[in-house]
Amino acid sequence: MSDDPTEPKKKKLRKLQTPLGVFDILPDDQLYYTHIKKVVRHRCRQSGFRRITTPVFEFTDVFQRSIGDATDIVQKEMYTFTDRKDRSFTLKPEGTAGVMRAYLQHGMKELPQPVELYYIEPHFRYDRPQKGRYRQFWQFGYEIIGESDPALDAQVIQLSHKIFEDLGIAHLLELQINSIGCAACREEYITQLQNYYVGKERSLCDRCVGRLEKNPLRLLDCKEEDCQILAQLAPQLKMYLCKDCKEFHGKVLEFLEASEIKYVENDKLVRGLDYYTRTVFEFWDRTQGAQNAVGGGGRYDGLMEMIGGPHTPGLGAAFGMERIILNMKREKIHVPSKDDLHIFVAQLGDDAKKRCLNLIWELRERGVKTVGALGKGSMKAQLRLADKFNVPYTLILGITEVRENTIIIRDMAKGQQRIIPFDTVIDEVVKLIGEKNLDKYSPGELVYS
Ligand code: HAM
Repeated sequence: MSDDPTEPKKKKLRKLQTPLGVFDILPDDQLYYTHIKKVVRHRCRQSGFRRITTPVFEFTDVFQRSIGDATDIVQKEMYTFTDRKDRSFTLKPEGTAGVMRAYLQHGMKELPQPVELYYIEPHFRYDRPQKGRYRQFWQFGYEIIGESDPALDAQVIQLSHKIFEDLGIAHLLELQINSIGCAACREEYITQLQNYYVGKERSLCDRCVGRLEKNPLRLLDCKEEDCQILAQLAPQLKMYLCKDCKEFHGKVLEFLEASEIKYVENDKLVRGLDYYTRTVFEFWDRTQGAQNAVGGGGRYDGLMEMIGGPHTPGLGAAFGMERIILNMKREKIHVPSKDDLHIFVAQLGDDAKKRCLNLIWELRERGVKTVGALGKGSMKAQLRLADKFNVPYTLILGITEVRENTIIIRDMAKGQQRIIPFDTVIDEVVKLIGEKNLDKYSPGELVYS
C-alpha cells in the first residue's frame, strides 16, 4: 500500500461470485451431468422421442396462462423482466409450457400423432435456496402430445423408471400417483373443499389462507403440520371423480401393474401447476417423502386451450438433475469418466517441440487422449506435470532422440522406460492403451443434398 497521500485511493472491488442459488458446474460434477444426459438421450431416442430446445426466455404470458396465475411459480418464483420496448419476458421456470407453445406455433398437429418430444435444459425459479433447491437448476423432461390413452400415462412412468434403473437409483424412489379429475369433476369438489374449511381458517398457515380462495387444491399437499392434519379429514377428491375419470385412472393403474411398476396411491397429491387434469404423479425419495421430489408430471388435456390453441391432449414428466445427482452421490454411485488422459508428451528444444506438435495431434486422431506442456521449459517441470495428470505413459523427446530419430516411452506406474524408433510410436501407444479404451470421435457422415 502506498503512503503517498496525493495518490488517489484505489476503490476496493467487490469480490465476484455466483448469486445465491446458482452455481458453477465444475469438471467433477460435469461427469454426472454428462452421464445423465447420455442415459436420457439413449432411452428417449430408443422410445421414439425427438429432442426439442425452447428458448431460455419467453413472453411472460406463455407461463402465466399455462402454469396458472394463482400458483407459487407464477406468483413468486418467476424471473420476469421487461426489454427496451417494455415487453414482459420470463426465464423459463419449467419446460412444458414452452413445448406446447412450440407445438402450436409450428403446426405440429399436422405430424403423425402423438408427437413425442424431450428436453434437457436449465430452468429458473426464485425459490428459497437449500440443498436440492436452487434458482437455476437442470431438468430433463418429456411430453407426449396429441393423444389421450391411459397406456401413454403408464408409458411415461415406465420410461422414467427405466432411466432411474440405468442411473442406479430406482430402488431409492417411490412412485406416488393420483387422479385430480377433469375440470368438471373438480368444480364440485372444490366447492365442497372450500365449505369444509369454513371456520377453520385460523388453523391454516398464511399461504393456505391465501390459497383457499385462489387455489384450494393446494391445501391438500401443504407441508405445514396443522394444515396436514386438517387435510387428512378434508373431503376426498376420489369420491368426486366422474365416471370417465374414474375409469381412466383405473386403467392407468392396471397398465402400471402389467408393467410391474409399484406405486402408492396418494389422494393428497395435487402438484403445483394448474394445467394438470386426471393423472398426476411424483417420484419421491423414500427417505425424504414429499420434500425434494426427484421429479413428477401428469396429464394436461386442457393446457393447449389455456394457451389459445385447439383441444389437444398431452402428458409428460420432468426431473431435477441436481436432485438425481444428490441421490447418486449418497448411494456412492460413481459414473465413468472419459476425462482420464492416456499420454503426456514431454520435449526439450525447438526441434523436439516441432515434432511434438504433429505427434500430439496424430495421437489424438487415433483416439489417444494426449496432452503436452509445450510452454514448459525444463524436463523436470514437465515430468512433474505428467505425474499430476496421472497418465499411464509419458513420451519423452529430447535433443538426442531427435538426432537419432527415436523416442522414449516411460511407464509411469513402474517407473521404467525404453527407447523405440520414432516412426513406430503411434502404433506402439495404441497397442499399450488398447483399442477398446481409445476415445474415437466420429461426427457421422454428412449428406449433401
Ligand atoms: P415440477 O414438479 O415443478 O414439474 O418440477 C419437476 C422437478 O424439477 C422437481 O421434482 C424437482 O426435481 C426439479 N425442480 C423444481 N424446482 C427446482 C429447484 N428450485 N431446484 C432444483 N430442482 C428443482 C414441472 O416442472 C413440470 N413441467 C413437469 C411436467 C412435464 N409435467 C408434465 N410434463
